[in-house]
Amino acid sequence: MPPCEVQPQPYQSLPYEYLQQVHQAHSGYLGGKLYRRPLLLHQGHMQWLWDTDGRRYLDLFGGIVTISVGHCHPKVVEAVTKQIHQLWHTTNLYMIPSFYEYIEKLAATLPEPLKVIFLVNSGSEANDLALFLAREHTGNFDMLTLGGAYHGASSQTMGLTSLSTWKFNLPTSFGIHVTMCPDVFRGVWGGAHCRDSPVQTLRSCSCLPGSCHAKNMYVQCFQNVLESSVGKKVAGFICEPIQGVNGTVQYPKGFLKEVYDMVHSRSGLCIADEVQTGFGRLGSHFWGFQSHGVMPDIVTMAKGIGNGFPLAAVVTTREIADNIGQAKHFNTFGGNPLSCTVGSAVLDVIDEDGTQACSAEMGTRLMQALAKLREEFWVVGDVRGKGLMIGLELVTDKESRTPLPREEVAGIAQDVMEAGVLLGTGGNHNNTLRI
Ligand SMILES: Cc1ncc(COP(=O)(O)O)c(C=O)c1O
Repeated sequence: MPPCEVQPQPYQSLPYEYLQQVHQAHSGYLGGKLYRRPLLLHQGHMQWLWDTDGRRYLDLFGGIVTISVGHCHPKVVEAVTKQIHQLWHTTNLYMIPSFYEYIEKLAATLPEPLKVIFLVNSGSEANDLALFLAREHTGNFDMLTLGGAYHGASSQTMGLTSLSTWKFNLPTSFGIHVTMCPDVFRGVWGGAHCRDSPVQTLRSCSCLPGSCHAKNMYVQCFQNVLESSVGKKVAGFICEPIQGVNGTVQYPKGFLKEVYDMVHSRSGLCIADEVQTGFGRLGSHFWGFQSHGVMPDIVTMAKGIGNGFPLAAVVTTREIADNIGQAKHFNTFGGNPLSCTVGSAVLDVIDEDGTQACSAEMGTRLMQALAKLREEFWVVGDVRGKGLMIGLELVTDKESRTPLPREEVAGIAQDVMEAGVLLGTGGNHNNTLRI
């Protein structure tokens, strides 16, 4: 481990075993822990986390793709400390300076005409509102979403989500139509030049330069759904520029552009879910949709927006925002002084620390190094991503691309943690390590 100038405070609170008993007795979250013995973490500084025994970890998962500028970044801590002594909460029925300072700053990161902002508290809430805006503005009901998508855990966004772990026996998907996931590694089609990443798949490819068979076929599948499952007009289409929870799944270049055109030609709105891809994480652009050369009508963002503080946003055009008419949007905490202060400080740090350029440089270096592991080890089926949104998909053999069983993936994540590095896992088979 490289050295770290910060020393953790000694842990002086309740013992591990006692907290486990409290967990059993009172926590609503009982399953799904990543490690055999769940980590008890009590301090963080930038890329480091410490457990209660004082052991230091290099955090490559960032609280599920949320720590955008570093744990407890001193500049963010300073800003929020100042605000906490001044004002925590009123209501958005009054005017609050930090709200206006922040939305002006956030709007400046987005292209015209995406300049009108609603602040909310979570990604699910942001996508709920986006869905509402799309239906209210168009007067249409049908929505399209991609297989493998994760857009949240509220009753509405569960319908937009298409990952087995997050599907339940509940009626959540009225008017939502799932189209084939254009996954160029695991999907039916995919070749050796399809994706916008420093590392390509090992699949063979006979496409001529400038053409992509996989893209054409996935666009065709999308078209088939439009022609068979929805009315002549749709409310919209939602997708992430790169799927996060599904294990950093990338689409063929040009796919989004064509399907955005198809959705627009049916009067629908395109929603870019930038909850994981936004704020420069992809390195080449500040927003993931820009890397596809498309212009969404609505952008939703959360996670990295607040570096771990409960803050999220929906950005759209004045025309769409005004169209919610009588159905005024209100929530108690959205745009509160603390979250606006945090959001503002995070944007400043992204700029001052050059995190976007750092994502591009470090991400590319890391992916190229991981691609060497793919040459060396049969278990590494794919390495992909852009900037610091990286997936490493584990398989039983490269030819069949059969997913490595979950228990073995968990064993690898466990070993990596024991070596002092925290990674995430993802994908429908949970066989992708996420960085
Ligand atoms: C792409 C994407 N959209 C939406 C959400 C939901 O965000 P939240 O958990 O803040 O409700 C997530 C959460 O993982 C996400 O990854």
